Amino acid sequence: MDFEPNETQALIQRTARDYAERVIKPVAAALDKEERFPFEILKGLADLGLMGVNIPAELGGAEAGVVAYSLAMTEIARACASTAVTMAVTNMVAEVIAKLGTEAQRQKHIPKITSGEHVAGAFALSEPEAGSDPGSMRTTAERTSAGWVLRGQKQWITSGAHAGVVVVWARTGGPGTKGISCFLVDGGTPGMKPGKHEDKLGLRASNTVPLTFDDCEVPEDALFGELDGGFKIAMMALDGGRIGIASQAIGIATAALEEATDYAKQRKQFGKPIGDFQAIQWMLADSKTELEASRLLALRAAKMKEAGVPFSREAAMAKLYASEAANRICNRVVQIHGGYGYVRDFPAERHLRDVRVTTIYEGTSEVQRTVIARAALR
Ligand code: CAA
Repeated sequence: MDFEPNETQALIQRTARDYAERVIKPVAAALDKEERFPFEILKGLADLGLMGVNIPAELGGAEAGVVAYSLAMTEIARACASTAVTMAVTNMVAEVIAKLGTEAQRQKHIPKITSGEHVAGAFALSEPEAGSDPGSMRTTAERTSAGWVLRGQKQWITSGAHAGVVVVWARTGGPGTKGISCFLVDGGTPGMKPGKHEDKLGLRASNTVPLTFDDCEVPEDALFGELDGGFKIAMMALDGGRIGIASQAIGIATAALEEATDYAKQRKQFGKPIGDFQAIQWMLADSKTELEASRLLALRAAKMKEAGVPFSREAAMAKLYASEAANRICNRVVQIHGGYGYVRDFPAERHLRDVRVTTIYEGTSEVQRTVIARAALR
């Protein structure tokens, strides 16, 4: 087994780290405080190939693979988790279109994503009453003489107000998972209306909105994949997306732990650095160990996806463990900072707010456990 990145992976990692350190990190606290969507930063990510890390070069992607994507995601999240989730969903959208779209759909949407002409892509699966159970969705797509008309409501849509293309799931057949189809809807299509921006605990610079489909007409060729075959597309895309969220959690926790380690070296109490106390050492040691375990799980899942072997279970394990470990780590990091961890002058409180959602979105921890247990019991 080789744990060292190859030349391409190392290049992508360095590129992401350099951009994150130079351009993103200095403004991350302000973006969060002002709830400012990072338009220019996202364009910069596209210019560096980071909006299509695992997309073929002929479509404008970096064609660097899944491990490189995971490494890049970690570096961006280390600077700004809000930017990272926008990048994660955009890469997920580009990848699923690249894999399953018709040639016309690929050519229409992907170069705009990879070039940054589309600031982001969005993934509209969840609904107010269909979160962990997307098979119960109520949004419908009805066939018309000109194409399809979408009606319903989606919820928690990352970049929903800004995306150039939205992947939308809607019911075209009977109940359950088998009657669902998938559509590619251009941003700004009449009838697709973003609602009020959510006032979130964390990721305050990312855009999260409900999307209402009010007699939203789309052409025949907006149908993406097989009719009534949309549920599996969602599951496949989420398998890959979960590697992205694991990597995001690792990035947030890496930043937090680095800051706590520095703080433990310079903060003195009882006449010596607090890092000299075993209580602090154990928190740092547990955090470092859990972070390394998370990295190995995420890289294994990425490597399996890259090799083209089934990886749903491994992605679920990586997402479950990394997100829960990152929450523990960011919580300890606040504890190590004491009162300074609880105020906005230090990034520790932002990391704790940002990391919280990683056990919730792209499948809760409970859903990941379901995926893992079903694989074990099969
Ligand atoms: N790949 C391909 N096919 C899959 C699959 C996978 N990983 N998982 C399931 N399927 C197939 C099954 O084989 C089955 O096919 P057949 O009908 O032909 O047998 C079909 O899909 C239905 O599968 P299940 O019966 O297992 O479906 P279920 O209703 O029991 O659901 C679940 C399983 C794992 C709980 C799933 O519903 C799930 O993942 N829920 C969580 C949804 C989620 O992650 N939402 C995140 C929203 S997006 C987001 O957060 C993005 C963001 O903005 C950050």
